[in-house]
Amino acid sequence: MPTSTFDIFRFQPDQGPDSYRQAFTLEHGTDLTLLDAILRLQDEQDGTLAVRYSCRSAICGSCACKADGKTVLACMSQVEDLKAQNGGQPVRVDPIGNFRPLKDLIVDMDPFWDKFKSVKPYLIPDGPAPEKERIVSKEAMQKIYNESKCILCAACYSECNSLAADPEFVGPAALAWGFRFAGDERDGQRHNRAKLYSGEHGVWDCTRCMYCNERCPKGVDPRDAIEKLGGIAFSEGVSWADAGARHAKAFLISMRTGGKLNETLLVPFTNPIKSQLDLPFALRMLSKGKAPSPIPHKVKNLGEVKKLMKNVKETI
Ligand code: SF4
Ligand code: FES
Repeated sequence: MPTSTFDIFRFQPDQGPDSYRQAFTLEHGTDLTLLDAILRLQDEQDGTLAVRYSCRSAICGSCACKADGKTVLACMSQVEDLKAQNGGQPVRVDPIGNFRPLKDLIVDMDPFWDKFKSVKPYLIPDGPAPEKERIVSKEAMQKIYNESKCILCAACYSECNSLAADPEFVGPAALAWGFRFAGDERDGQRHNRAKLYSGEHGVWDCTRCMYCNERCPKGVDPRDAIEKLGGIAFSEGVSWADAGARHAKAFLISMRTGGKLNETLLVPFTNPIKSQLDLPFALRMLSKGKAPSPIPHKVKNLGEVKKLMKNVKETI
């Protein structure tokens, strides 16, 4: 029978933020999940070890924690797999990141739920209710299928670098739900949703680190949803309010006009006021050959670039 050791973070509210770590050893069969291991430790070795769980089947989303620094669903992770990945070291277990711990592996989820509610995660159709139901085609549902799979486990939120820098950022899960409804053809609030999600701490604050896509256990790809919300903001004409949106627009314009990025456009587009203040500095940089030429440059095969952009637009 395999024997495994676990190095578990024990947060005690009365003992400060770093409380302590506790080592446990367990003999077990080859098909033990991390959640079952924690529950056995709780049952057999230390009844004070606190963990949140419910379904044990990767459905309820409540058992997310960090195993060797990566956010996982404990009930979906095999201990033997974790050991194979860490070279047989003790499995290090921590609460999810970007949350305030309450006790051991349990964290305060309130900010996550508040942000989830803030995106209005429900259908708001226009016009009178139909007699029976609002029919939606398979193709239309396919567009929001990924986002519909979210189980609100907060693994993406735990890994989000933007949240680490700005705790007010709405976060990947809430924005994925935002797209789930903004992209639903039965919803009548597309424009209002575009405005709501494009504001401060919204879509444009994502740093595109892609960890949310990497760690989501359900393949929701929240970063892709955020990108699609950016597209909706453009098509709804609400993309000039935020510096992040203007930055993205500058990329688009320079690709369309020159076929490659014109860095000189980025600053004045993103921050028109600050760029005026920076003008003397920019001119000095130019005179020393340290900044790219402000004269728009074109690649030879601009037509090909435009075709590519058209294809991407149609695919999305
Ligand atoms: Fe969990 Fe994925 Fe939903 Fe984020 S997007 S809450 S990681 S299921
Ligand atoms: Fe429900 Fe793990 S216990 S997802």
